[in-house]
Amino acid sequence: MLAHIRSLLYVPARKPEMLRKIGRLGADFYIVDLEDGIGPEHKNSARQIVADVHAEGALPAEGWALRINAERSAWIDADLELTSAVNPPAVVLPKAEDPQEVARRAATLQNDALLLMLETAAGVGRARELAAHPSVRGLVYGSADLRRSLGARPDASRAWERHAMSEILLAARMHGCAAIDAVTFQFRDLDALADDAKIARDLGFDGKSCIHPAQLETVHRVFSSSEEELAWARRVHEAWEREEGERRGVIVVDGEMIEALHVDVARRILERAPR
Ligand code: COA
Ligand code: MG
Repeated sequence: MLAHIRSLLYVPARKPEMLRKIGRLGADFYIVDLEDGIGPEHKNSARQIVADVHAEGALPAEGWALRINAERSAWIDADLELTSAVNPPAVVLPKAEDPQEVARRAATLQNDALLLMLETAAGVGRARELAAHPSVRGLVYGSADLRRSLGARPDASRAWERHAMSEILLAARMHGCAAIDAVTFQFRDLDALADDAKIARDLGFDGKSCIHPAQLETVHRVFSSSEEELAWARRVHEAWEREEGERRGVIVVDGEMIEALHVDVARRILERAPR
């Protein structure tokens, strides 16, 4: 469900028109938000908007998730009621910290696809245990909450958060989950967005969270393979076939030693061709 997700767009359940655009704004995946994108006085109306747009049949069958409020919040019961009425393709649990709580929640939800937001010291610290539940398909990093949780000061090189990002990535890869980077909040600054996205991509993340449709093109470009990478991957594949790499174990392409593992890398590059 979350394979090859480059972008994940938050759509706050603030206006029905916004929710009706889900599936048509060009994002690879959408999160309908009831949590921090919706102020306390708008929580009830947000739920009603989701229920109404769902009743219209305007929400697609796939490609989106509902982000409910945190377990210990005042809104969780009403959010769960809405979740069982709407039965979204996936549910996002914010501020995930407790593996037992995740297991309990997974058991009560109808669908078995969960995305966890890892965005607190406790959540990042227990990332591997949290990702181990079979319903968890993706880990979404939340930098604003983590910054608050750690008391860190952000910097352009993302030094303050790289350790946490790598913890999340390791947990995701250990358990076959997608790993999605946090939002870049200066949504009109596409250069800053590209810089942030490249850091996440180079660490191994699959994609990035977005808050505005204008961010999607940049994020898709960064998380797609470049022409140079694609040309290398094609040369490796062709040579592997031609020179019977499978049988020989090792071949040489352009002065570079190639083993089966490099062919896997090449396959991943080809899977991420621009689309
Ligand atoms: N999802 C869907 N549509 C969106 C959107 C989003 N996240 N962000 C903007 N749009 C739409 C607007 O509705 C508007 O549509 P219209 O032309 O049909 O009226 C169009 O894109 C242009 O919007 P713009 O005027 O550039 O943005 P804005 O200044 O009104 O809003 C934000 C900026 C950041 C407030 C808004 O993008 C937003 O609410 N983003 C999501 C925030 C969120 O979910 N936060 C929680 C997770 S961190
Ligand atoms: Mg958050």
